[in-house]
Amino acid sequence: MRFLVALGFLIFGLLAATQQSLAATCTISKYNEDDIKTIENDCRDITLDGLNVPAGVTLNLNLNQGTKLTFQGTTTWEFYEWNGPLLNITGEDLEITGASDHVLDAQGNLWWDGQGEHGGTIKPVFFILHGVKNSVMHDLKVKNTPYHAIWIENSDGVSVSNISINNRDGDTMGGHNTDGFNVWTSNNVTLDNINVYNQDDCVAIKSGTNIVVKDAYCYGGHGLSIGSVGGRDYNIVENVLVSNSLIEKSDNGVRIKTVYGATGSVTNVTYANIFLMGIKKYGIVIEGDYNIETGGTTGVATGGVPIKEFTLKDITGTVAKSGVNIYVLVKNASDWHCSEIDVTGGEKTKVCEGIPEGAGISC
Ligand SMILES: *[C@@H]1O[C@H](CO)[C@@H](O)[C@H](O)[C@H]1NC(C)=O
Ligand SMILES: *[C@@H]1O[C@H](CO)[C@@H](O)[C@H](O)[C@H]1NC(C)=O
Ligand SMILES: *[C@@H]1O[C@H](CO)[C@@H](O)[C@H](O)[C@H]1NC(C)=O
Ligand SMILES: *[C@@H]1O[C@H](CO)[C@@H](O)[C@H](O)[C@H]1NC(C)=O
Ligand SMILES: *[C@@H]1O[C@H](CO)[C@@H](O)[C@H](O)[C@H]1NC(C)=O
Repeated sequence: MRFLVALGFLIFGLLAATQQSLAATCTISKYNEDDIKTIENDCRDITLDGLNVPAGVTLNLNLNQGTKLTFQGTTTWEFYEWNGPLLNITGEDLEITGASDHVLDAQGNLWWDGQGEHGGTIKPVFFILHGVKNSVMHDLKVKNTPYHAIWIENSDGVSVSNISINNRDGDTMGGHNTDGFNVWTSNNVTLDNINVYNQDDCVAIKSGTNIVVKDAYCYGGHGLSIGSVGGRDYNIVENVLVSNSLIEKSDNGVRIKTVYGATGSVTNVTYANIFLMGIKKYGIVIEGDYNIETGGTTGVATGGVPIKEFTLKDITGTVAKSGVNIYVLVKNASDWHCSEIDVTGGEKTKVCEGIPEGAGISC
């Protein structure tokens, strides 16, 4: 039985509170801050059914340990110029999922102006998983995010699978900086079977340890990236495996970028079995000259964020004629192992620098 009316739900909540309230299934279909507080406290099986979140409000869900959260129907957020996030979830042992008919429609088209974070409207981050522990998130459909889609931050043990982020409308409607997944300061994160259509990084690992990305399909954005690394509070990337993925019609395929003049480290990163199709700018690009202020590059690498124990294995596919197959500009790198690299089609070349001796890759 479902309680679609807030009042009915509240009465139910109060009655049940004396007994086994935490086992209750609670459904909310209209946004109301008090109802959200009540379900946070009293429910372990929550359905959000077709919520419309008011302008400038974060749908903040600080959930009980062991809660299952299901999105149902179409969830929307009203337009407001601010940094967001529009959705912010925290908790332990959570299961976050969507019913078969659901979509999280952030209506990014209301904000999009082709300028992303560089001007125009102020665009909110869509969804932050903050301080989430030992949790799974699966079968979610996200559409048209104003800016970055999903951040996983300060989390430990997050397994994300079967998620689609569809910002395809942004190609013609001015979507920009619509990153798919960003990972920061987290440990033990797996992204498995993700589909991202967007206009910036498909995945960007800014910092964190023990991270796996597999079975990703990325279309139209900036590829599977590590970085930029450096210039933040925590600047370590360690033990990352990116595998079995397809990157299509994106600016880059495989990318690592570290920040010019910064400190930190990128250690034990492996990209394996990555297929590239029609990459526009760089098939493989490893750069130590990223300018975090301008979002550009300096053309000179610094070695404060050394890339060590780096493996590229079985990276194949095509780059557009006007693109570059492989570009490396790093300093202080060591212990690289590259094999089965076959990236072709790009007719532009750039001079590479800093590839460690015996790495098995050349430009
Ligand atoms: C997100 O949720 C966490 C945990 O409840 C909280 O500390 C943080 O302030 C929230 N962030 C925002 C922007 O609301
Ligand atoms: C990593 O996180 C997953 C998902 O929560 C969990 O099942 C697994 O036990 C964690 N592994 C370690 C080593 O903590
Ligand atoms: C993945 O998502 C699709 C579409 O939402 C769904 O049909 C399918 O059953 C899901 N697969 C798994 C393994 O959960
Ligand atoms: C390197 O990372 C891989 C995951 O890609 C992990 O299995 C392995 O244990 C790590 N190696 C070391 C020395 O930590
Ligand atoms: C190279 O990296 C090491 C850490 O591995 C660091 O101590 C050193 O300062 C770096 N060198 C340069 C030239 O940045």
